Amino acid sequence: MSYENIAVEKDGAIAIVTLNRPQQLNALSYGLVKELALAMEAADQDPEVRVIIVTGGEKVFAAGADIKEMADAGPFDERVQGRLAFRDRINKISKPVIAAVSGYALGGGCELALSCDIIIASETARFGQPEINLGTIPGSGGTQRLTRLVGKYRAMEMVLAGEYIEAVEAERLGLVNKVVPVEFLLEEAKEIAEKIAAKPPLAVKFAKESINKALNTPLDEGLEFERKSFYLLFSSEDRREGMKAFLEKRKPVFKGK
Ligand code: CAA
Repeated sequence: MSYENIAVEKDGAIAIVTLNRPQQLNALSYGLVKELALAMEAADQDPEVRVIIVTGGEKVFAAGADIKEMADAGPFDERVQGRLAFRDRINKISKPVIAAVSGYALGGGCELALSCDIIIASETARFGQPEINLGTIPGSGGTQRLTRLVGKYRAMEMVLAGEYIEAVEAERLGLVNKVVPVEFLLEEAKEIAEKIAAKPPLAVKFAKESINKALNTPLDEGLEFERKSFYLLFSSEDRREGMKAFLEKRKPVFKGK
């Protein structure tokens, strides 16, 4: 498939999706978000792909939803509702998604990073929810995910005052996994992706689902979900192989079954 607003490449078991509207600082237009969702769904369905990396390249991750496109829109405009519908589809990707963030990750760009499973940031990364300056608020989880991650007070500061935070501060707040020099950003993201890609895919899928449950459900419900997933994995070949290989003191060979 050919894309206008993104670039997709495959490196072994890793699909790398790069936002590609540099003149507009990768602003998340309807067209870009639609392509991003379709490319990520294709990677999710591709049996060769185990992990997806989303990046904007070295200069900018994404400066938010496309303000030019939204400026004259009404609430039911396809460009608004359609974009957010595709945005929701990105949240349903079952394979692990790593965000490699450099430069601005603002508004919808910050929310896109926050909806990924792991965030690697370059030293130039800056996270912010500046929608308040435009007379609006975050619309893709910025008031919800951010608050669960950094707590009420920092979320209030970022959303109400539109304050940006630097990469090192984001790491301190637990908002990113690791900060690296910009030239190592993709390398670092790929290194983690390769580690995950070597693990049994079904266990990876269930683990991701269970961790995400922790953010969405009361503890009892999350624990029940985790326990059922744990039981279910007893029926997988990879679980048998993993334990057998340990006892036989050899490396396991996982098949994704
Ligand atoms: N939408 C559309 N175009 C954007 C954009 C955006 N979010 N951000 C930047 N651009 C465009 C600029 O209009 C400019 O285009 P032109 O050359 O055609 O004028 C180009 O990208 C370069 O931008 P700047 O000249 O502004 O670059 P800068 O380095 O001086 O400033 C910046 C960088 C601080 C990121 C600044 O561009 C900026 O503040 N951008 C807007 C950030 C923002 O408010 N994001 C939230 C959007 S709303 C949202 O995301 C809602 C939601 O949650 C769903």
